[in-house]
Amino acid sequence: MRHCRVFSFVLILQTIWFSSSAQECSISKVNRIDCYPETVPSVQEHCENRGCCYDPKIDANDDVPWCFFPTDYKSYNLTNYKPTIFGFQGMLTLASGTTHHFTKEIQQLKLQVFFETENRLRVKIVDARQSRFEVPITTPKVTNAATNLQYKVETRSDPFGFIVTRKDNGVVILNTTVGPLIYADQFIQLSSSLPTHDIYGLGERRGNALVSTNWNRLLFWARDQIPKDHANLYGDHPFYIGLENDGKAHGVFLLNSNAKEIELQPSPAVTWRTIGGILDFYVFLGPTPEAVVQQYTDVVGKPFMPPYWPLGFHLCRWGYGTSENTWNKVKEMRAAKIPQDVQWNDIDYMQQHLDFTYNHDKFNTLPNMVSDLHNNGQHYVMIIDPGISNNQPKGNYPAYDDGMELDVFIKDPTTMEPIVGVVWPGATVFPDYTHPSIGSYWEKQLLRYYELVKFDGVWIDMNEPSNFGTGSKSGCPNNTLENPPYVPHVTGGALQDRTLCSSAIHHSTTHYNVHSLTGLFEMKATSEALESIRKKRSFVISRSTFPSAGLYGGHWSGDITSTWEDLRKSIVSIINFNMFGIPMVGADICGFSGFTNEELCIRWMQLGAFYPFSRNHNMKAAKAQAPVDFSTSAQVPMRNALLKRYLLLPYLYTLFHSAHVNGTTVARGLFLEFPQDSNTRKIDEQFMWGSGLLISPALYQSASTVNAYFPAGFWYDCTTENLGKRINSNGQYETLQSELHGSIPLHIRGGNIIPAQYPDLNTKKSRKNPFLLLVAPDNTGKACGELYWDDGESLMTENPSITINFVLSGTSLTSYPSNTGYSGTMLLSYVSIFGITSKP
Ligand code: NOJ
Repeated sequence: MRHCRVFSFVLILQTIWFSSSAQECSISKVNRIDCYPETVPSVQEHCENRGCCYDPKIDANDDVPWCFFPTDYKSYNLTNYKPTIFGFQGMLTLASGTTHHFTKEIQQLKLQVFFETENRLRVKIVDARQSRFEVPITTPKVTNAATNLQYKVETRSDPFGFIVTRKDNGVVILNTTVGPLIYADQFIQLSSSLPTHDIYGLGERRGNALVSTNWNRLLFWARDQIPKDHANLYGDHPFYIGLENDGKAHGVFLLNSNAKEIELQPSPAVTWRTIGGILDFYVFLGPTPEAVVQQYTDVVGKPFMPPYWPLGFHLCRWGYGTSENTWNKVKEMRAAKIPQDVQWNDIDYMQQHLDFTYNHDKFNTLPNMVSDLHNNGQHYVMIIDPGISNNQPKGNYPAYDDGMELDVFIKDPTTMEPIVGVVWPGATVFPDYTHPSIGSYWEKQLLRYYELVKFDGVWIDMNEPSNFGTGSKSGCPNNTLENPPYVPHVTGGALQDRTLCSSAIHHSTTHYNVHSLTGLFEMKATSEALESIRKKRSFVISRSTFPSAGLYGGHWSGDITSTWEDLRKSIVSIINFNMFGIPMVGADICGFSGFTNEELCIRWMQLGAFYPFSRNHNMKAAKAQAPVDFSTSAQVPMRNALLKRYLLLPYLYTLFHSAHVNGTTVARGLFLEFPQDSNTRKIDEQFMWGSGLLISPALYQSASTVNAYFPAGFWYDCTTENLGKRINSNGQYETLQSELHGSIPLHIRGGNIIPAQYPDLNTKKSRKNPFLLLVAPDNTGKACGELYWDDGESLMTENPSITINFVLSGTSLTSYPSNTGYSGTMLLSYVSIFGITSKP
């Protein structure tokens, strides 16, 4: 390599080399952009062959790149810059004579910059000569550049880079001149400086809410993976929110579904690395974090409006074994007077694990149980997996026969017959959810089953898609899709690990491109089928997700363990998925795998009562963990936590409606609500419902207090023990009592009016009870709030509703109804105004 060849044999001269002979390589460690992201021993020759700077790794634990791009690295030059009606465009041409040894570099690219709205910018870089795979989700089509732009975009021509600046304060949101653009057929990389270390989002992952920028490589490739730190998990969400120093927020979304890495480094900077598709960035200017989420959901779609019943408590487990056992649990919950809206079944209800069947011996009373649930105002949800058994006698299993007839299964790249993997029923084929006929196929299967069992919602699992083998039963061919020149550091080491061959054939592309979209498109097919069958709002919970998934359903955080650590980490999943536009999210209450215990499960029921999606679920063979499986004294705090949830459901429902209409979050981190308060930036063991309710759970073994942070303002205790007790905070920590058998600490923020309703054992009943208003004045004596209400299940297209705004000002509390289409009875029977010092 040109700068350091002379010193290649004397490592000792490294310092001299940096200081004297090669300016282009004297880049401080934190600023070095990785030129050799492969996991290989550091070999100088390999690095030099790429035209990069070599600095041998002395310490194996050092994450600083040993091979990095020089500042004068030749890549693309921008020519033919021209303003367009939507922004500007240009050609990017690979500098002549440049060979970087990235296989099949693309010679000419087209840059398109769209000033989509005053706060939203899109930068798209595609192959100028032929089309490449683009993610098939619907995004806004913009024909004219917006005016009053809050950002400025500048470009550098040689080598190409772009800089996005926030106009009002000059903060540089992105600056891609810090590293070169690499654009090869199966390796695309772009880097940018970041204006902050405070980066949130980027999932699906396990870890803290605040993402480390200390050489942190995040992985994106949907995978059936027990959640652990640094692994790629079930979903793919390449979207982050950056909180700038002054509290303003921006967001960046790379719309790309191929296997990817996003690497953060301490300068701070970010590198996006994908092995296919195109570069399609959206930049959101906020300036508040909530505005960023709204701008993001303007692109990927606003979350679906859930029916009311899924806001209640859900009970599930793998391994009830029989319908009688399942039904008995429901009866025990009723007898113990613990609220429950939904009973679920896992794969053990099926006949030999076959989708769309139930075991007529062990689950013979299933239809009766479902009728009984319905007669009691409760609902039923069952699991469906994508794997369809292919070895049932011909004519015996319509789910397979229909699929063969419609030709909707993903194909083996070698035989062009359906690709065969192994899931619960043994050998299975896999529906191609991108196929144009998939909707009618999927609906037909669900409808056939609905005629047997009147389910209300569907739980779709294993849809990464998961395969217990690698690739397929007959292996995968050896080609560049299976063995790309660069494999992101995905867990399992290979793309086809625990899933299908990357070169498997879908309707119009390969699995390589659409793998991580499987969950999204299965959600779409399932939600549409449910609406068409039940003629009511659908309810779908999916394990795998991709941006846009919120349009069709919710998510749970998968196979977490019954540990205190996973209890704590579950809050991050809730916060993250709300930022991803998927607010209906929860984690398996009391933990999925491993044995829970009474203390952990009480704490988890207390916290889980405040997950937007509140479900207790348990692994087969693990100790029973429904509330009724614990002592009667343990049932008291569990019941109370759920009753508190049910009390607050009108507020939660209103938040879901706001999410549906405006794209706001339902549950949110304190950093999202209080970006100006730097103390909140690391807090992820407390969270909020909307901007009005603070939840501060006890998350440590043997704890009886919680050290909770209160951003500046008035906060009113919402627990029965201390109802209305006020904290006047300057932005401070408070030690709160939280006895195991007491209540989870909850505070209403001054300035809010929370609509509530007397709780009951399910939402069918609670919806008939009188409403209450919890009024929490701020330091000026003012408060406001909103209630959205409808029948809780009609399709949103035919749904009379009412919205009531409440305002407390001076000595009067006024309600302002609008959209008064809802004709049901609503009775307000109680108003509690906190903080009144003398008798009114
Ligand atoms: C994996 C899911 O994550 C888990 O929730 C479920 O119980 C099992 N599959 C069995 O269906």
